[in-house]
Amino acid sequence: MQISDTMTAALNDQITMELQAAHNYLAMGAWLESAGFSGMSAWMQAQSVEETTHAMKFYQFVLDRGGRVKIGALDAPASEFESVANVFETSLAQERDVSAAINRLYALATDERDFAAVPLLDWFVTEQIEEEATVSQILDDLALADGGPQAMLFLDRELGARGGTE
Ligand SMILES: [Fe+2]
Ligand SMILES: [Fe+2]
Repeated sequence: MQISDTMTAALNDQITMELQAAHNYLAMGAWLESAGFSGMSAWMQAQSVEETTHAMKFYQFVLDRGGRVKIGALDAPASEFESVANVFETSLAQERDVSAAINRLYALATDERDFAAVPLLDWFVTEQIEEEATVSQILDDLALADGGPQAMLFLDRELGARGGTE
């Protein structure tokens, strides 16, 4: 079954949203490194790469289904943040927006009976649960650390030890 124009447009929007997330995470990483948190910066840089792989999953899917990929313009990311916690709060808000967008794509696929899109979207539903949980945990840890230098150093080292991601 060939992909519909509506579904193609929605998936193209999602490609752009994932690339925007990658763009935003790079800016967050740069701010964190400048603020002295190189481990957290490395975490954000890895997160940016992961968002690019998300964009590429949709990109390949559209092409495999015979659709045309159209990538939208990206906005300049915020480059100033109030605090480390503010960076991760911005990240959580972004992840929640992405989760909502994935839910809308799922609803569209169901409306169109485009069941070929379901396995891909199932993967993203699960991924978003993990993304939100991970960032929420970091925010909880930051609240517990309460800016204390030893705890912040520990968190920076811990996040810097992040391994390869998908
Ligand atoms: Fe993503
Ligand atoms: Fe994400």
